[in-house]
Amino acid sequence: MKFTVAIDGPAAAGKGTLSKRVAEAFGFAHLDTGLLYRATGAKVLEGADPVAAARALAPEDTAREDLRTSQVAQAASRVAAIAEVRAALVQFQRDFARREGGAVLDGRDIGTVICPDAEVKLFVTASDAVRAERRYLELSGKGQDVSREGVLRDLQERDARDSQRDAAPMTAADDAVLIDTSDLSIEDAVAEAVAHIKAKL
Ligand code: CDP
Ligand code: CDP
Repeated sequence: MKFTVAIDGPAAAGKGTLSKRVAEAFGFAHLDTGLLYRATGAKVLEGADPVAAARALAPEDTAREDLRTSQVAQAASRVAAIAEVRAALVQFQRDFARREGGAVLDGRDIGTVICPDAEVKLFVTASDAVRAERRYLELSGKGQDVSREGVLRDLQERDARDSQRDAAPMTAADDAVLIDTSDLSIEDAVAEAVAHIKAKL
């Protein structure tokens, strides 16, 4: 059985958490496509050429423990605006999406560019304040030296760059279901997503 769930939305909206839970609920595989750009960005911070780094990306690069920082997120957002970087990562994502047994992919352009034929498309949002607070709690909880203002600035800068770029800008697909998680618990958001998927299965 092939079945693709595409989950897009701005930074720290809850895409990853939702994707993981949905994948568990249905036994689907999950790909956090942001890790591809974060891993590429991390290599560029170490001096690599962005396009060469994206083309040479290996599984162990996306498993690095140091990808969840604001600095790497910013580098990811910068390399993600380069069309050749995105092109280097397309086939891997499409193959993952059409694997046997179902797949959930989360990112910015899954429902629009990577999997325009996905069986289910969700666009997950939350207010800037809610997203910044969640990411602040997450990063400070891991011991990172961050401020609320700094985290908010990082999210807003990335959202602006991600939605205004020419190459696969972040935008909701016409046929995407919008889920605003500002006032939703994780459980409520999962229940909403599960209901949409069950209706299409
Ligand atoms: O993947 P994305 O950047 O969109 O967000 P995430 O990493 O799934 O969520 C960011 C943080 O918000 C995590 O610490 C989640 O536990 C939390 N979260 C939440 O508090 N309520 C939700 N409805 C969704 C996520
Ligand atoms: O977890 P968070 O939402 O903060 O970020 P992420 O999903 O790990 O993505 C990091 C950066 O990668 C984003 O700011 C985008 O610039 C880029 N990205 C993208 O362009 N396309 C995707 N499908 C996924 C991520």
